[in-house]
Amino acid sequence: MVTTRATAEDSPDRTDRRDRSAVRALLRLWPYVRPVRVRLFSAACVAIVASCLSLVIPLVLKWMVDGPVADRDPAGVWLGALYLLLLGFAEALLFGLRRWLVARPLAGVEAAMRADLYRHLQRLPVAFHDRWASGQLLSRGTTDLMLLRMFLAFPLTFLLVNGVTILVGVIIMLLQDWTLGLVILIPAVPVLVTCVIFEKRYAAVARRAQDQVGDLTTVVEESVLGIRIIKGFGRHRSQARAFKELSGTLRGTELRKARLLATIWGVIVTLPELAIGAALVLGAVQVADGELSAGTLVAFLSTALALRWPVDSIGFLLAMSQEAATATERYFEVMDAESERQEISTAKEDRTDLGLRFHDVRFRYPDAPADSSPVLDRIDLHIQPGESMALVGATGSGKTTLTALVPRLHEVTSGRITLDGDDITAMSREQLRSLVSVAFEEPTLFSASVADNVLMGAEDGAGELELERALGVAQADFAHALPHGTGTQVGEQGLSLSGGQRQRLALARAVVGRPRFLVLDDPLSALDVHTEAAVEAALRDVLAETTALIVAHRPSTVLLADRVALLSGGRITAVGTHHELLRTNAEYAHLMAGTEEADR
Ligand SMILES: Nc1ncnc2c1ncn2[C@@H]1O[C@H](COP(=O)(O)OP(=O)(O)O)[C@@H](O)[C@H]1O
Ligand SMILES: [Mg+2]
Repeated sequence: MVTTRATAEDSPDRTDRRDRSAVRALLRLWPYVRPVRVRLFSAACVAIVASCLSLVIPLVLKWMVDGPVADRDPAGVWLGALYLLLLGFAEALLFGLRRWLVARPLAGVEAAMRADLYRHLQRLPVAFHDRWASGQLLSRGTTDLMLLRMFLAFPLTFLLVNGVTILVGVIIMLLQDWTLGLVILIPAVPVLVTCVIFEKRYAAVARRAQDQVGDLTTVVEESVLGIRIIKGFGRHRSQARAFKELSGTLRGTELRKARLLATIWGVIVTLPELAIGAALVLGAVQVADGELSAGTLVAFLSTALALRWPVDSIGFLLAMSQEAATATERYFEVMDAESERQEISTAKEDRTDLGLRFHDVRFRYPDAPADSSPVLDRIDLHIQPGESMALVGATGSGKTTLTALVPRLHEVTSGRITLDGDDITAMSREQLRSLVSVAFEEPTLFSASVADNVLMGAEDGAGELELERALGVAQADFAHALPHGTGTQVGEQGLSLSGGQRQRLALARAVVGRPRFLVLDDPLSALDVHTEAAVEAALRDVLAETTALIVAHRPSTVLLADRVALLSGGRITAVGTHHELLRTNAEYAHLMAGTEEADR
């Protein structure tokens, strides 16, 4: 299977993102933030008050220096110290309150976004998942959402808090002594310019880093899932090399980020520091000349020092905001992808047209080049009610593709498919899935008990009785011999089963709901001849009650069906009974000849 996967270089939805704006991206978070807006806002107000309290300290100092200290009044000094202690205490208390206010609601925001992402991923069509690397989706659901929560908890509030604090601080300084205040303000212009330049550059690098994390996740995931192949073919070295290369690239990108951050940090820290030095010299001269009181200079300088942290932190607050904007973009790239189309009920019912029917169906994979020939072309096939039809064809002829069209895992490119006369696109997903059951060649079990895995295919109320019947049909009685019987955990987090065992459970899942229509894609391929014969015997009863389309390879399976359709070159080239086709169709005879020997 050749599919073009999304990588850091060419994510499917990564075009025209150049005119990005961090603010516009972050504004899209509003619907999630709305429910917690009151708390978030109160927390910001609390933080502003706490932060401004620290600016009162210099004023107390001024009062102490010009009052009790100058007058040599110990009681006054003690009183001042007590004020300072109380102020510090209040500040700490308020910051604690802020943290308490935001922690729980923000965890809720993250959880809600993650739930939405997961729900959306489930609804996105198979074509979307074919296109996107799973690691890119995984990293969005983990790293990116964590970045968003951190942004809401920290930079969002503190950009505001620090902004207000700096403003108030500057006003206080100007009121103390406006010439010294202007000296302090000189670096503001170069710092602002640096911030703007930095923001643009950092945005690009942050995006690259986050995409590369997604690629890395994909490699890790593939090598964990494919560990048997890697070991079996001794490919761990090349796999390790691929990993090393990717993580080397990521390291390079992270270092670039660090360099950018270091540059802006350098500018933001150095320039104000120089300004404070200049103000100190100037202020000292003024005090010596008697133009300025010592208390005012102390107050002025300690205000400037109190503003150091708010100013210094702006660099990494901006960086975090930029990363959050990127994370938001990446999140909404997935959320904006269109989910499966819901019913378009234009088709008319035609009750005379019973059974499963393909009307002039054509199909081309969405990511295939437009000029390539379609995988399926002009398919007309009518499976009568109660009939079972076997589908035979060479490897790669499109059998799996054809079966995937019935449960609408892929949408037909043109033509239509009807179930008892109803167009499948005119039904709701629930309706369609209650009518049609499927089992695929590659059986998937989830991390749950055997019983849960099988009953997944039934209505909600189904119980022990249905489970037993389905296990019987699929010859999956081995389930009873598992350590905890049908309660045994299987799947990734549970017991590993053999391919044949998994296939039988998948088959049991397909038949447990007694579906009207049954679509089986080579469900017996991994079974040994004897088990296969037993499954076939039991299947015969199930098939008698349903309308079925079964992809088959061996004559014994084909013989279960009433008729056979031959798929060749994307078209149905022959329909008839097994014996008819054996006699009249050379390709069919050839396909069956190879396997007949083995079945004897
Ligand atoms: N997800 C996909 N995207 C693009 N092409 C695909 C995809 N799956 C299968 N194909 C192509 O469609 C053709 C038919 O595949 P398939 O239906 O799996 O054949 P079969 O089941 O008969 O062996 C093959 O050429 C295959 O490469
Ligand atoms: Mg197949």
